[in-house]
Amino acid sequence: MPALKFFFEALFLAAIFILQALCEPQGSKGVTSRFVRKLQDSGDLPETSEWFITFDATLNLPEQVHLTQGDYIGQTTTVSWVTWASSSGNIVQYGKSKDSYTSSIQSDVTTYTYGDYTSGFIHHAKLEGLDYGTTYFYKVGDGSSSREFSFTTPPEVGPDAAHVFGITADLGQTINSAQTVAHYTRSGGQTMLFVGDMSYADRYKSNSQVRWDTWLRLLENSTAFQSWMWVAGDHEIEAKSNSGETEKFKAFNKRFPVPYQASGSTSSLYYAFKRASAHFIAISYYDDYSEGSTQYQWLQTELSKVDRSTTPWLIILEHVPWYNSNTHHYQQGDGMRSVLEPLIVNAKADIFFAGHVHAYERTFRASSLNCSGGCSDENAPVYINIGDGGNSEGLVGSFVSPQPSYSAFREASYGFATLDIRNRTHALYNWHRNDDGDAVVADSTWIINRVSS
Ligand SMILES: *[C@@H]1O[C@H](CO)[C@@H](O)[C@H](O)[C@H]1NC(C)=O
Ligand SMILES: *[C@@H]1O[C@H](CO)[C@@H](O)[C@H](O)[C@H]1NC(C)=O
Ligand SMILES: *[C@@H]1O[C@H](CO)[C@@H](O)[C@H](O)[C@H]1NC(C)=O
Repeated sequence: MPALKFFFEALFLAAIFILQALCEPQGSKGVTSRFVRKLQDSGDLPETSEWFITFDATLNLPEQVHLTQGDYIGQTTTVSWVTWASSSGNIVQYGKSKDSYTSSIQSDVTTYTYGDYTSGFIHHAKLEGLDYGTTYFYKVGDGSSSREFSFTTPPEVGPDAAHVFGITADLGQTINSAQTVAHYTRSGGQTMLFVGDMSYADRYKSNSQVRWDTWLRLLENSTAFQSWMWVAGDHEIEAKSNSGETEKFKAFNKRFPVPYQASGSTSSLYYAFKRASAHFIAISYYDDYSEGSTQYQWLQTELSKVDRSTTPWLIILEHVPWYNSNTHHYQQGDGMRSVLEPLIVNAKADIFFAGHVHAYERTFRASSLNCSGGCSDENAPVYINIGDGGNSEGLVGSFVSPQPSYSAFREASYGFATLDIRNRTHALYNWHRNDDGDAVVADSTWIINRVSS
């Protein structure tokens, strides 16, 4: 009876569309996209997948190479990598022309265990005092066990320093995740902002830490060439009492050297940094944010350090969205928002990036300071939920109806975003839908700086 089944499915879809159309408020500017994507397998790629850049462990070749801004102002880049046979070759040589490495620095080496798993040798080397806006060539490891890459440092922090940021979250390691990474490498993005939920290793019975290794192999095509700035989400907590592991964020802390001390933070979960013309503040749902808490006080101090005449763009990074009209995780962020929103709106933040919900949504500038549930507020940030990186839990396509007035665009598809900051007043924001092999821009808007325009 396939014909009958098809008929009923078509009838059902038509009914949903008519209901949605009836429910949409008159004059609403918000868009609920009707794009329907082709279904494909969303399970994790096999460990031997060619998407994971892998070497014979006995060769001791550096793998999982990734870069992170290592200071407050973008003059330090931390190079991280893993070797399996030995901790030797713990060196990065670097310089401004290829094959002429004028500087070298030794890495710190660490390992960790998790249940039955023992990590490879995890190396972190801080390349300090780099010139701004300069391409550096670097060689990780020693002799025949070495590999070469390059990266370009950000421009000097200043009001018109242009830079293109990528944004992703909830990435995982499926074919959809691989497409997100592959499309991003071709997007012109120069620095990635990662707002939580990384490898999804914790979906495996004993938090298979091998899935951290495969995940970083998947990312290397991008992370060896530009900094990714990491914010931890719930999937990074990983403490599982039944595996005897009680230390939270163990793999996150071992593998991702976020520069939290540089902004006076005592926790890798919240920190700040400046890059080009933007001041970024990462805050955490997974640590105490109540009034008077260490995080709350640190945020107040950090906001008081923001100088919009040198960094006109103030951007907040946090995993759980404060404005989300998807039924998944609906209103989960309200408690945190009620405590911290006054600080963020008083500071006139421009953009707030979050993940957590496996769909895409962009809002207008809105706050709940004078109303409940989000009204237009020119001092509030634009909220962007970018939890559509492609993990194995799949997409969530059910949105609250009618579309709230704060919601500008929403769609359940895989993709990533870019924020192309042109100068102190203008930034072009694009959401790229992965759509069957091409990076398609499906939502685009100019964001006008709140303070400098
Ligand atoms: C990584 O990039 C190289 C060069 O651009 C390309 O040949 C290769 O297929 C890419 N690998 C993956 C896994 O994306
Ligand atoms: C919210 O209320 C305050 C105090 O009454 C007022 O100054 C502010 O302009 C209001 N904001 C909006 C967006 O209405
Ligand atoms: C800033 O960038 C926008 C968009 O490219 C451009 O229209 C505007 O003229 C620029 N402003 C200045 C002062 O250069």
